[in-house]
Amino acid sequence: MIIYLNGEYMPAEQARISPFDRGFLFGDGIYDATPSYGGKTVALQLHLDRMNGGLKSIGIENPLTDEQWHGLATKLSEKNGGQNLGIYFHVSRGNEGRRFHGFPTDTKPTVFAMVIDIDPHPAVPDRTTKTGLRVVSTEDLRWRRCNIKSTALLGNVLHFQESYAAQKDETIMYNARGELTEASSSNVFIVKDGIVATPMLDHQLLPGISRHIAIESLRADGSIQVEERVVTMDEVRQADEVWITNSSKHIGPVVELDGEPVGDGLVGPVWEKAMTVYEAAKYNF
Ligand SMILES: Cc1ncc(COP(=O)(O)O)c(C=O)c1O
Repeated sequence: MIIYLNGEYMPAEQARISPFDRGFLFGDGIYDATPSYGGKTVALQLHLDRMNGGLKSIGIENPLTDEQWHGLATKLSEKNGGQNLGIYFHVSRGNEGRRFHGFPTDTKPTVFAMVIDIDPHPAVPDRTTKTGLRVVSTEDLRWRRCNIKSTALLGNVLHFQESYAAQKDETIMYNARGELTEASSSNVFIVKDGIVATPMLDHQLLPGISRHIAIESLRADGSIQVEERVVTMDEVRQADEVWITNSSKHIGPVVELDGEPVGDGLVGPVWEKAMTVYEAAKYNF
């Protein structure tokens, strides 16, 4: 794999980062990842806007312009065969040469980018051939700024491990009031009686770009109502369909929650509709 580090492209094995980098010491940084198919990115500008917002909120000046990030995405995709790739961007607060919590004043951020293989998406989603996902649920024990796409992912890693260790696909989470937040690396939707619902944006969840595309493409289609509101775990357990969204899965249908079938235990018709409108609209964002 060819990666990008601080202005240079190089084979991944040649990349070197100081152990004093605050990304390494503290997870002090912001990242984002955008899907790219055959060199065509999905909603790259929305990912860059979110990264910009995250950097601003933790006081790191974005070291590259949007134009430079766009160029980097194109070049990385070309240098890595340009097929089904997640393009991963990462900016840390840099290396001050010591371990000290306070922000350094004249340290350059570290910029790293790489690619991640992702699955292709069928142009025509088919629920009869789509494999559903199996998830577990747990109380969300992360911090209160989950809207920031921080590189400090220990909370998410520990939550993901709960499902991974149980040979399941993802962990969905709820707050102390029993309200759905998100999953360890995705947002969550439910469908009940033909109406789609997902938690509204706040500090408890990442403003997922796939979440945004799913909501907006369904609203533009107009045949299915979408609500952004508090969703309780009781509602999740009684839902006809549950989906998780992120940039590699887009919309992933969930067929099992905590060992019980979701709805009839099969991939649902509303998922098929949502994925169809998503696929048709994804390059328009
Ligand atoms: C915690 C969390 N929530 C939600 C998402 C989905 O975000 P997106 O749709 O922008 O990939 C991710 C993606 O990595 C995530 O890590």
